[in-house]
Amino acid sequence: MNIKDCMAAVTGGASGLGEACVRMLSGAGAKVAVFDLQEDRGGKLARELGNNVVFIKTDVTSDESTQASVNKAVELFGGLNVAINCAGVGDPGKAVSKKGPMPLSFFNRVVQINLVGTFNVARLAAEKMIRNQPQDTGERGVIINTASIAAFDGQIGQPAYSASKAGVVGLTLPLAREFAEYGIRVVTIAPKLRGLSRMKMKAKEI
Ligand SMILES: NC(=O)c1ccc[n+]([C@@H]2O[C@H](COP(=O)([O-])OP(=O)(O)OC[C@H]3O[C@@H](n4cnc5c(N)ncnc54)[C@H](O)[C@@H]3O)[C@@H](O)[C@H]2O)c1
Repeated sequence: MNIKDCMAAVTGGASGLGEACVRMLSGAGAKVAVFDLQEDRGGKLARELGNNVVFIKTDVTSDESTQASVNKAVELFGGLNVAINCAGVGDPGKAVSKKGPMPLSFFNRVVQINLVGTFNVARLAAEKMIRNQPQDTGERGVIINTASIAAFDGQIGQPAYSASKAGVVGLTLPLAREFAEYGIRVVTIAPKLRGLSRMKMKAKEI
Protein backbone atom coordinates (compact mmCIF):
# COMPACT_ATOMS: atom_id res chain seq x y z
CA MET A 1 0.00 0.00 0.00
CA ASN A 2 1.31 3.41 -1.00
CA ILE A 3 1.01 5.67 2.03
CA LYS A 4 0.58 8.84 0.02
CA ASP A 5 -2.60 7.38 -1.50
CA CYS A 6 -4.03 6.47 1.90
CA MET A 7 -7.28 7.81 3.28
CA ALA A 8 -6.96 6.95 6.95
CA ALA A 9 -8.94 7.14 10.16
CA VAL A 10 -6.93 6.94 13.38
CA THR A 11 -8.83 6.46 16.62
CA GLY A 12 -7.14 7.86 19.70
CA GLY A 13 -5.28 10.04 17.19
CA ALA A 14 -5.11 13.05 19.50
CA SER A 15 -2.49 11.51 21.79
CA GLY A 16 0.34 9.03 22.16
CA LEU A 17 0.60 6.18 19.68
CA GLY A 18 -2.39 7.41 17.65
CA GLU A 19 -0.93 10.90 17.35
CA ALA A 20 2.38 9.42 16.19
CA CYS A 21 0.49 7.47 13.50
CA VAL A 22 -1.30 10.64 12.39
CA ARG A 23 2.00 12.49 12.13
CA MET A 24 3.68 9.66 10.24
CA LEU A 25 0.83 9.18 7.77
CA SER A 26 0.35 12.89 7.18
CA GLY A 27 4.10 13.39 6.76
CA ALA A 28 4.07 10.73 4.04
CA GLY A 29 1.23 12.49 2.19
CA ALA A 30 -1.85 10.55 3.37
CA LYS A 31 -5.20 12.09 4.20
CA VAL A 32 -5.94 11.47 7.86
CA ALA A 33 -9.02 11.79 10.04
CA VAL A 34 -8.32 11.98 13.77
CA PHE A 35 -11.12 10.19 15.62
CA ASP A 36 -10.91 11.12 19.30
CA LEU A 37 -12.87 12.54 22.21
CA GLN A 38 -10.28 15.22 22.94
CA GLU A 39 -11.38 18.23 20.91
CA ASP A 40 -8.60 20.53 22.13
CA ARG A 41 -5.69 18.24 21.33
CA GLY A 42 -7.22 16.76 18.19
CA GLY A 43 -8.18 20.15 16.77
CA LYS A 44 -4.76 21.59 17.55
CA LEU A 45 -3.04 18.66 15.86
CA ALA A 46 -5.18 19.01 12.74
CA ARG A 47 -4.47 22.75 12.54
CA GLU A 48 -0.76 22.12 12.97
CA LEU A 49 -0.54 19.43 10.29
CA GLY A 50 -2.65 21.23 7.69
CA ASN A 51 -5.23 20.50 5.06
CA ASN A 52 -4.80 16.76 4.78
CA VAL A 53 -5.64 16.20 8.46
CA VAL A 54 -9.07 16.70 10.00
CA PHE A 55 -10.27 16.20 13.54
CA ILE A 56 -13.67 14.51 13.85
CA LYS A 57 -14.92 14.18 17.41
CA THR A 58 -15.72 10.52 17.95
CA ASP A 59 -16.70 8.24 20.78
CA VAL A 60 -15.65 4.79 19.60
CA THR A 61 -18.04 3.15 22.06
CA SER A 62 -21.00 4.74 20.30
CA ASP A 63 -22.57 3.25 17.20
CA GLU A 64 -24.04 6.61 16.10
CA SER A 65 -20.96 8.73 16.78
CA THR A 66 -18.59 6.35 15.00
CA GLN A 67 -20.90 5.80 12.03
CA ALA A 68 -21.22 9.58 11.61
CA SER A 69 -17.43 10.00 11.79
CA VAL A 70 -16.75 7.24 9.26
CA ASN A 71 -19.33 8.75 6.93
CA LYS A 72 -17.75 12.19 7.32
CA ALA A 73 -14.26 10.90 6.58
CA VAL A 74 -15.48 9.11 3.44
CA GLU A 75 -17.31 12.25 2.35
CA LEU A 76 -14.21 14.42 2.85
CA PHE A 77 -11.62 12.04 1.40
CA GLY A 78 -13.68 10.21 -1.22
CA GLY A 79 -13.13 6.88 0.54
CA LEU A 80 -11.38 5.12 3.39
CA ASN A 81 -8.68 2.47 3.04
CA VAL A 82 -6.87 2.59 6.38
CA ALA A 83 -8.35 2.32 9.87
CA ILE A 84 -6.00 2.36 12.85
CA ASN A 85 -7.44 1.60 16.27
CA CYS A 86 -5.39 3.31 18.98
CA ALA A 87 -8.16 4.63 21.25
CA GLY A 88 -7.80 2.94 24.58
CA VAL A 89 -7.61 3.25 28.33
CA GLY A 90 -5.29 1.38 30.65
CA ASP A 91 -6.61 2.29 34.08
CA PRO A 92 -5.38 -0.28 36.60
CA GLY A 93 -7.65 -1.92 39.15
CA LYS A 94 -7.54 -5.09 41.22
CA ALA A 95 -10.51 -7.46 41.17
CA VAL A 96 -10.64 -6.98 44.94
CA SER A 97 -8.83 -3.95 46.34
CA LYS A 98 -8.70 -2.37 49.77
CA LYS A 99 -11.91 -0.58 48.79
CA GLY A 100 -13.72 -3.84 48.00
CA PRO A 101 -14.60 -5.62 44.76
CA MET A 102 -13.93 -3.76 41.53
CA PRO A 103 -17.09 -1.96 40.44
CA LEU A 104 -18.50 -3.78 37.45
CA SER A 105 -18.90 -0.40 35.75
CA PHE A 106 -15.09 0.00 35.83
CA PHE A 107 -14.54 -3.36 34.11
CA ASN A 108 -17.30 -2.62 31.64
CA ARG A 109 -15.90 0.80 30.67
CA VAL A 110 -12.44 -0.58 29.87
CA VAL A 111 -13.92 -3.40 27.78
CA GLN A 112 -16.28 -0.97 26.02
CA ILE A 113 -13.50 1.38 24.93
CA ASN A 114 -10.70 -1.09 24.21
CA LEU A 115 -12.60 -4.05 22.80
CA VAL A 116 -16.09 -2.97 21.73
CA GLY A 117 -14.69 0.31 20.35
CA THR A 118 -12.13 -1.58 18.27
CA PHE A 119 -14.75 -3.88 16.80
CA ASN A 120 -17.11 -0.95 16.22
CA VAL A 121 -14.56 0.92 14.11
CA ALA A 122 -13.40 -2.23 12.32
CA ARG A 123 -16.89 -3.22 11.19
CA LEU A 124 -17.88 0.31 10.06
CA ALA A 125 -14.57 0.94 8.28
CA ALA A 126 -14.65 -2.45 6.56
CA GLU A 127 -18.13 -1.76 5.24
CA LYS A 128 -16.72 1.30 3.43
CA MET A 129 -13.50 -0.43 2.32
CA ILE A 130 -15.43 -3.24 0.66
CA ARG A 131 -16.70 -0.60 -1.81
CA ASN A 132 -13.18 0.57 -2.78
CA GLN A 133 -11.83 -0.24 -6.22
CA PRO A 134 -9.12 -2.85 -5.59
CA GLN A 135 -5.51 -1.91 -6.34
CA ASP A 136 -3.49 -3.99 -8.82
CA THR A 137 -2.58 -6.28 -5.94
CA GLY A 138 -6.25 -6.81 -5.10
CA GLU A 139 -5.92 -4.75 -1.92
CA ARG A 140 -8.83 -2.60 -0.78
CA GLY A 141 -7.70 -1.62 2.68
CA VAL A 142 -6.11 -2.43 6.00
CA ILE A 143 -7.37 -2.36 9.58
CA ILE A 144 -4.72 -2.12 12.28
CA ASN A 145 -5.68 -2.79 15.89
CA THR A 146 -3.72 -2.19 19.06
CA ALA A 147 -3.67 -4.93 21.68
CA SER A 148 -0.93 -5.14 24.29
CA ILE A 149 1.55 -7.53 25.81
CA ALA A 150 -1.05 -7.60 28.62
CA ALA A 151 -3.26 -9.69 26.32
CA PHE A 152 -0.81 -12.56 26.92
CA ASP A 153 0.97 -11.64 30.15
CA GLY A 154 -1.37 -9.57 32.29
CA GLN A 155 -0.15 -8.25 35.62
CA ILE A 156 -1.93 -7.83 38.95
CA GLY A 157 -4.20 -4.83 38.53
CA GLN A 158 -4.91 -5.56 34.87
CA PRO A 159 -7.89 -7.95 34.75
CA ALA A 160 -10.03 -5.47 32.83
CA TYR A 161 -7.25 -4.23 30.56
CA SER A 162 -5.86 -7.70 29.84
CA ALA A 163 -9.31 -9.12 29.12
CA SER A 164 -10.09 -6.26 26.75
CA LYS A 165 -6.80 -6.65 24.89
CA ALA A 166 -7.12 -10.44 24.73
CA GLY A 167 -10.50 -9.77 23.12
CA VAL A 168 -8.82 -7.59 20.50
CA VAL A 169 -6.36 -10.42 19.77
CA GLY A 170 -9.29 -12.83 19.58
CA LEU A 171 -11.26 -10.86 17.02
CA THR A 172 -8.28 -10.36 14.71
CA LEU A 173 -8.24 -13.78 13.03
CA PRO A 174 -11.97 -14.11 12.36
CA LEU A 175 -12.07 -10.59 10.92
CA ALA A 176 -8.94 -11.21 8.83
CA ARG A 177 -10.50 -14.39 7.48
CA GLU A 178 -13.84 -12.71 6.81
CA PHE A 179 -12.38 -9.70 4.98
CA ALA A 180 -9.60 -11.53 3.10
CA GLU A 181 -11.89 -12.17 0.14
CA TYR A 182 -12.29 -8.39 -0.27
CA GLY A 183 -8.56 -7.70 -0.12
CA ILE A 184 -8.79 -6.09 3.33
CA ARG A 185 -6.07 -7.06 5.78
CA VAL A 186 -6.72 -7.07 9.52
CA VAL A 187 -3.68 -6.99 11.78
CA THR A 188 -3.10 -6.36 15.47
CA ILE A 189 0.02 -5.15 17.21
CA ALA A 190 0.77 -5.99 20.84
CA PRO A 191 3.13 -3.35 22.23
CA LYS A 192 4.94 -3.84 25.46
CA LEU A 193 3.76 -1.68 28.32
CA ARG A 194 5.58 1.61 28.72
CA GLY A 195 6.58 1.62 32.38
CA LEU A 196 5.64 -1.92 33.43
CA SER A 197 7.26 -1.29 36.80
CA ARG A 198 5.02 1.78 37.17
CA MET A 199 1.98 -0.43 36.60
CA LYS A 200 3.25 -2.91 39.20
CA MET A 201 3.74 -0.07 41.68
CA LYS A 202 0.24 1.22 41.03
CA ALA A 203 -1.15 -2.29 41.54
CA LYS A 204 0.48 -2.39 44.97
CA GLU A 205 -1.10 0.94 45.88
CA ILE A 206 -4.70 -0.06 45.02
N1 LIG B 1 1.52 3.38 26.04
C1 LIG B 1 1.88 2.10 26.17
O1 LIG B 1 2.90 1.76 26.76
C2 LIG B 1 1.02 1.03 25.54
C3 LIG B 1 1.44 -0.29 25.61
C4 LIG B 1 0.64 -1.29 25.05
C5 LIG B 1 -0.54 -0.95 24.43
N2 LIG B 1 -0.94 0.32 24.40
C6 LIG B 1 -2.20 0.65 23.75
O2 LIG B 1 -1.95 1.57 22.72
C7 LIG B 1 -3.07 2.42 22.56
C8 LIG B 1 -2.63 3.87 22.65
O3 LIG B 1 -2.03 4.07 23.91
P1 LIG B 1 -1.39 5.48 24.30
O4 LIG B 1 -0.39 5.25 25.36
O5 LIG B 1 -0.99 6.21 23.07
O6 LIG B 1 -2.67 6.17 25.01
P2 LIG B 1 -3.10 7.69 25.13
O7 LIG B 1 -3.85 7.80 26.41
O8 LIG B 1 -1.95 8.61 24.88
O9 LIG B 1 -4.12 7.87 23.91
C9 LIG B 1 -5.35 7.23 23.90
C10 LIG B 1 -6.34 8.13 23.19
O10 LIG B 1 -7.59 7.44 23.12
C11 LIG B 1 -8.60 8.42 23.28
N3 LIG B 1 -9.85 7.80 23.69
C12 LIG B 1 -10.15 7.24 24.90
N4 LIG B 1 -11.43 6.82 24.92
C13 LIG B 1 -11.95 7.12 23.70
C14 LIG B 1 -13.22 6.93 23.11
N5 LIG B 1 -14.22 6.37 23.79
N6 LIG B 1 -13.41 7.33 21.84
C15 LIG B 1 -12.40 7.92 21.15
N7 LIG B 1 -11.16 8.13 21.65
C16 LIG B 1 -10.95 7.73 22.92
C17 LIG B 1 -8.06 9.38 24.32
O11 LIG B 1 -8.73 10.63 24.28
C18 LIG B 1 -6.59 9.47 23.91
O12 LIG B 1 -6.38 10.56 23.02
C19 LIG B 1 -4.08 2.00 23.65
O13 LIG B 1 -5.01 1.11 23.10
C20 LIG B 1 -3.20 1.31 24.67
O14 LIG B 1 -3.93 0.37 25.42
C21 LIG B 1 -0.18 1.34 24.93
